[in-house]
Amino acid sequence: MPSDMPSDHSSRTVSREQAAALDAADPLRALRSRFVLPEGVLYLDGNSLGALPAGTPARVAELVEREWGQGLIRSWNDAGWYDLPRGLGDRIAPLVGAAPGQVVVCDSTSVNLFKVLSAALRLRPGRRVIVSELGSFPTDLYLTEGVGESAGATTRGGCSAATGTTWSS
Ligand SMILES: Cc1ncc(COP(=O)(O)O)c(C=O)c1O
Repeated sequence: MPSDMPSDHSSRTVSREQAAALDAADPLRALRSRFVLPEGVLYLDGNSLGALPAGTPARVAELVEREWGQGLIRSWNDAGWYDLPRGLGDRIAPLVGAAPGQVVVCDSTSVNLFKVLSAALRLRPGRRVIVSELGSFPTDLYLTEGVGESAGATTRGGCSAATGTTWSS
């Protein structure tokens, strides 16, 4: 880290020069060229619509035109779709400290959140409260509220943008 950088998180303001110096020292810098962004755009969003990986348009076209269009249902085996959830999970596992076979990539964020909350409530039936952060992604809060209601649990700590009501505590 450059010597004029704050060494802790006490300073919230970073100048453009400091940001450029941080970029120059970033060990992930070489990966920038793997993503497409419009010229001049500083993009700080990390949700589902992160920056487009440069290889994605060609890969999506291949999947749609060849694997789906030509291979049809055979592509579950011939193109390896069937193995993707576990194969991709094994590649992610070391990033999250998991062992091979412990991570799968499947479904949407909302479907997975529904499954994990429902399973957590069933694992310990005496547990009756779901706590979430006020700033959580809106659909995560709607879904958490729904799971809580259908399981007779209380949701606490968030604020539902859908209803405008603060969750009960
Ligand atoms: C934190 C978070 N939760 C939920 C969603 C919704 O994702 P999905 O439509 O895949 O359920 C998103 C999408 O951006 C997200 O970033």
